[in-house]
Amino acid sequence: MKQTKHRFQPKFLLHGADYNYEQWLDYPDILAEDFRLMQEAHCNVMNVGIFAWAMLEPAEGLYQFDWLDRLLDSLHGNGIQAILATPSGAKPPWMSQAYPEIRRVDEYGRREPHRQRHNHCPTSPVYRQKVRQINTLLAERYGAHPALLMWHVSNEYNAHGCHCDLCYAAFREWLRNRYGSLDALNHAWWTTFWSHRYTDWSQIEPVDISIHGLMLDWQRFNSDQVLDFFLAEIEPLRASTPEVPLTTNFMRPDVGLDYWRFAEHVDVVAWDSYPRWHSQPEEWPVGVETAFYHDLHRSYKKQPFLLMESTPSVTNWQGISRPKKPNMHLLSAMQAVAHGADGVQYFQWRQSRGGEEKFHGAVVSHINGRHTRVFQDVQNVGACLAQLSPATAVSPQAEVALLYDFQNEWALQLAQLQRSEEKLYQERCIAHYQSFWQMGIPVDLISSAATDLSPYRLIIAPMLYMLRDGIAERLETFVRQGGTLILTYLSGLVDTSDLCFIGSSPLRPLLGLWVEQTDVLFAHDVQTMALEADNELGLTGSYPVTHYADIVHMETAVPVARYGHDYYAGQAALTVNQLGDGCCYYIAGRPDGRFLLDFYAALGKKLGLARTLQAPLPLGVTAQRRRHSDQATLFLMNFHSGSQIIELDSDVYTDAMTQEQLNGRVELEPFGVCVLYPDRKESLQ
Ligand code: GAL
Repeated sequence: MKQTKHRFQPKFLLHGADYNYEQWLDYPDILAEDFRLMQEAHCNVMNVGIFAWAMLEPAEGLYQFDWLDRLLDSLHGNGIQAILATPSGAKPPWMSQAYPEIRRVDEYGRREPHRQRHNHCPTSPVYRQKVRQINTLLAERYGAHPALLMWHVSNEYNAHGCHCDLCYAAFREWLRNRYGSLDALNHAWWTTFWSHRYTDWSQIEPVDISIHGLMLDWQRFNSDQVLDFFLAEIEPLRASTPEVPLTTNFMRPDVGLDYWRFAEHVDVVAWDSYPRWHSQPEEWPVGVETAFYHDLHRSYKKQPFLLMESTPSVTNWQGISRPKKPNMHLLSAMQAVAHGADGVQYFQWRQSRGGEEKFHGAVVSHINGRHTRVFQDVQNVGACLAQLSPATAVSPQAEVALLYDFQNEWALQLAQLQRSEEKLYQERCIAHYQSFWQMGIPVDLISSAATDLSPYRLIIAPMLYMLRDGIAERLETFVRQGGTLILTYLSGLVDTSDLCFIGSSPLRPLLGLWVEQTDVLFAHDVQTMALEADNELGLTGSYPVTHYADIVHMETAVPVARYGHDYYAGQAALTVNQLGDGCCYYIAGRPDGRFLLDFYAALGKKLGLARTLQAPLPLGVTAQRRRHSDQATLFLMNFHSGSQIIELDSDVYTDAMTQEQLNGRVELEPFGVCVLYPDRKESLQ
């Protein structure tokens, strides 16, 4: 993973929020109250200016920075730092009117009216120029301001695509660079299908979902083009303020960006997390999912990240979003820190008075003041963060990696396989991850482009449908050198261009088998995998298989479990293939969570994978560690709605909040969290 040369190393854990000061300029009492309340809430940072372009440049070339001067001075005067945004996430109406070409065009060629935000054309030279101008002025004016901690570049970039002539021209240029000739492109996209052969580059329009190669490349292009826009955006910031780190707020993976590539260009990864707490009968699956995304953001750079946005109470766009139950706010904040966050921030500091987000949760609601449970919860989080060890803590080197690849996901989404709506790549990755969360075993996420697999002992690559260049070879080397690899059904079917492999999949030597067919199961179909007697993992019994069941021909692999039903009963459903010093398991049918937990527990035992705590964790509880110099920090988190008892290792621990000494066991109340320092100095690699 390439790193930028500016590394963000905060001296303390950040606590703050998006602060829309500019909405309240006519309300001096509110502004005065804000700074007082920020102190009370133990806030040390605010994200400012995010959607302030109309207030910074009310008419073309007419700038007003006085309010931003006052804001930064006031923050500084109150001991609060600023993460200052560039305003490109939303453009002022005068700009949309004067330069219609900055507005995005949809796939039917309709230019969007001026509305909403996050909808500019990423190619438009005019928009790029306008952004450059305002960013240059911001950098020159505030680069040396003592409140400035970091740049918050734009807001939540997305790669949903713009279909204007400029974007199409850029796309065709991108394709020329990739393929060199139309013949090569026609072959890669298999355009003879339905008579789609292109005879001129100008015929290529990315609106045809029947050509999967085209749509996959369109998504790749959009991701690259937004990154290119970002790189243009940051040029003036890097030029005027080379010492000031910068970030942009990422989101969950559904915005069409390949964040693995994007992350190389930010100094610290930041993301916006909006879990649907209390939306399910059990809370802990939401905890698992959220932990997965935190670990993903930690893994992009293998460095601590920032939780840039989270709601202090409800999220207005979620349909049903319940206020957080007692303890949940502290638990969700500490969860981010446990998985590598160096800060916990909210959207938003103060509820706006009008507009779409006036009923979104905020630290300070319309009621105003500190007398709300939300404010007190936030205050409590601030107090706890202030007590934790300095923030440059790292997470221990994980022994387990889970391969999560955006381009694989895009290709898999396009593929019209059976039960297509239920391929559910992210959910399946989370299902595998869940077992490790339950066992308290740390997991890194890696992409198909990861070159150094050597830190890991176990790699899991669920539904690796598309084999991007070199990944099959790298996984094979990993196995030959002693690694353990887990592959599943729907893997190794297409190459980087989304063309199906002919004859045999490059995964064949790894798997020691070939897949003849994938059976697809209706909800009423019954299939199982029954463990072989005396199998090497010591597993017994039988587990359900749903959705997909590969029918395989064994070569060098041996069966660990066999199907129990239908015409392929008795054939292998779970296999292992020894290769060099390592081995590759193949899970041929879709298993349930019970199987995955038993399987990974057995594998963990076989490989001697280190758990954060030795004793088994009760349901809904997980344990994670971070370290600062030789001081380890242990986070115990209960996502269960009942109290849970956790057996500690033999060490003596000090509770980071109460300074009490503990050993033996800890009882966590519903949604309780406990942060402990082991008295024994630890050396986590
Ligand atoms: C984020 C966005 C914020 C705010 C928030 C509401 O996605 O960056 O500006 O809209 O959602 O949940």
